[in-house]
Amino acid sequence: MARERAYLGFLEGPPIEGSRAFWRGLIDKGWPFEVAVDDGRVVGWCDIAPIDRPVFGHIGSLGMGLLPSHRERGIGRRLIGSALDRARACRLERVELHVFATNLRARRLYESLGFVAEGTLRRRAKIDDRYLDEVVMALAL
Ligand SMILES: CC(C)(COP(=O)(O)OP(=O)(O)OC[C@H]1O[C@@H](n2cnc3c(N)ncnc32)[C@H](O)[C@@H]1OP(=O)(O)O)[C@@H](O)C(=O)NCCC(=O)NCCS
Repeated sequence: MARERAYLGFLEGPPIEGSRAFWRGLIDKGWPFEVAVDDGRVVGWCDIAPIDRPVFGHIGSLGMGLLPSHRERGIGRRLIGSALDRARACRLERVELHVFATNLRARRLYESLGFVAEGTLRRRAKIDDRYLDEVVMALAL
């Protein structure tokens, strides 16, 4: 997904060991971490992770993605729905995310769930000499 150079704030997937530790931390602490599995293979995820500072303890930061083969089949909506249910159960008060302004599919999904655009970070990313604005969205729980 990172190598598509279009949707995520990475150009390569982060090293697997660090990712495993991150996921393990979420699961152990009961933070939302949902995966979609097809034929024994993980094809998508949605997590809502803490921001590592006490003053942001009421907030979770959302990330998600699906393999291209599994997009636009309703899986993303189910993943984020489950993650938000868990966020409510965890008594989080606010879920935040950053989305590239060009990513209309993701923005439509978030808006349909009540996320509100709170601002735009201009030219926030630069990929292959192309600047991308990033929209900050948040949902009050
Ligand atoms: C964004 C993403 C997670 C959405 O998941 P998905 O499974 O493809 O989406 P769904 O099929 O569940 O559709 C959910 C909603 O997305 C929106 N949507 C889906 N396809 C769309 C399209 N082609 N154009 C505009 N909106 C679209 C609609 O609001 C849709 O709701 P509806 O079907 O009730 O109308 C997925 O497409 C993806 O992984 N994209 C690449 C990675 C990415 O963008 N991650 C998010 C970074 S912030």
